[in-house]
Amino acid sequence: MTDALVAAAIAARENAHAPFSKFKVGAAVQDEQGNIYTGCNVENATYGLTVCAERIAIFKAISEGARKFVRVAVTADTETLTPPCGACRQILWEFCGDVELVLSNLHGKTETLHLGTLFPRAFDASFLQPEFRS
Ligand code: THU
Repeated sequence: MTDALVAAAIAARENAHAPFSKFKVGAAVQDEQGNIYTGCNVENATYGLTVCAERIAIFKAISEGARKFVRVAVTADTETLTPPCGACRQILWEFCGDVELVLSNLHGKTETLHLGTLFPRAFDASFLQPEFRS
């Protein structure tokens, strides 16, 4: 069965602007209502201003008003499935918590895990403000 979220991430990857690394990544996040927001990596000639696919997807979702997320998909053309980088793990954690994360490649290989397994003992808003404690 085709996973619509994975399919959305694979489609978004096609839009990647990756002329420097040639490494295209796609991401998609799904909110509680079932809405899907996608992203691709957008590179910059300064390199450091590059933004990953995951952050584009979650920031698009936040800017559209979405707040509660149930699943995240990340895809790249790698045999070993590509996980979110450290910066993206932090950002995803702050908006999605221990969300279900589906990694995939272009050959149908997938793995489902939870963000917390990739990002244990995270620093987040709960350390700053008691009201954010779960
Ligand atoms: N990249 C992502 O978009 N997401 C990841 O999780 C890993 C890395 C991008 C950033 C850069 O454009 C390229 O992949 C190579 O690092």
